[in-house]
Amino acid sequence: MVLQSLPRKPIILTISLLALFFVLFQFYGEISVDYYRNYAPGEAIVPPKTNNDKPQPGYFKAQPEWDWEVPEYGSSWKGYSRKPRNKDIVVLTASDGGGHNSAIPNILERVLDDREKYCTRHGYTNLWLNTSRYDIGEAHRTWSKIPAVAEAFYLQPNAEWIWLIDTDIVLMTPSTSLVDALLSPSAIEHGMMRNTPILDGQLKKNPSHIYTPNDYRVQDIDILITQDHQSVNTGSMFFRRSAFTRMLLEMMTDYTMLMGLEHGGAEQDALKHLLLEHQLVRNHVGIFPQRRFNAYAQGGNNMGYRDGDLLVHFAGCWTTGKCQEYFEEFWGKKGYEGVWRPDES
Ligand SMILES: *[C@@H]1O[C@H](CO)[C@@H](O)[C@H](O)[C@H]1NC(C)=O
Repeated sequence: MVLQSLPRKPIILTISLLALFFVLFQFYGEISVDYYRNYAPGEAIVPPKTNNDKPQPGYFKAQPEWDWEVPEYGSSWKGYSRKPRNKDIVVLTASDGGGHNSAIPNILERVLDDREKYCTRHGYTNLWLNTSRYDIGEAHRTWSKIPAVAEAFYLQPNAEWIWLIDTDIVLMTPSTSLVDALLSPSAIEHGMMRNTPILDGQLKKNPSHIYTPNDYRVQDIDILITQDHQSVNTGSMFFRRSAFTRMLLEMMTDYTMLMGLEHGGAEQDALKHLLLEHQLVRNHVGIFPQRRFNAYAQGGNNMGYRDGDLLVHFAGCWTTGKCQEYFEEFWGKKGYEGVWRPDES
């Protein structure tokens, strides 16, 4: 017999290897094999081609970027989970350089330069989009960071995660890897706050009685955000390329029902409203402890910056007229590794 004359060991080895691959791909069933095929090392990423100097040719929602692509494996609400590559992370500053930030001279140039260094260090893409170009009708200017997220997904087709950070944020601990600290499946799994009240103003004064899910699935998490003492805060948040994210951006910028109406907290109120009203939205939005990626310049141990925190956000500083003072103080301590503001909790 031919079979008997063949060496046994190589055949058994081959069969075992095939079985092993079969088992492995069973576990990775939510990601198509195509994904791994496209995951070749060393593939060139084309830097995004921005159009930052010209106004867009019409109403923002009519722009092509709203038709940004979502791959097959991100199109189901059952989601997927995997560790992103650094080069698939975009750090997005969506700003017109104006607003209360103009109290700090050259703030936009300074933070963009600093973010460029951070991105180079880790292999992320630094992106600035000039939000003055968007025709958003009568809506308040802060809404325009939502169209910027859509534009970023469109301009950078490989972007898997987009980190939207306000201009009035300083990266204090630039050694932090976003993947290890926040975006890997285990970081998401361990970081999310379960069964936590979703705030609608101060908890004691106005309890919403709505909580984050107890049984989050990490595969479903498409948005990462934090809450301060009053509500979710859109100053620093992460968006994953998925069908859910695209739907959420479209809902948030619904002009008739949300964006065109008077909302004190603009885009932030839109997101809060969607969270409070919709279980599906709660299932896809991970709420993290504030200091993980949105510590404020002032506040107690839950809110205020402490040594080692990723960043500091000067939220609300224009109300006290101290923006510049705070900003320069923190800027001078960027990357400092000694004891400055220890966590004494
Ligand atoms: C931002 O866009 C506005 C409106 O299109 C334009 O007037 C301004 O020059 C742009 N800013 C920069 C720095 O390109």
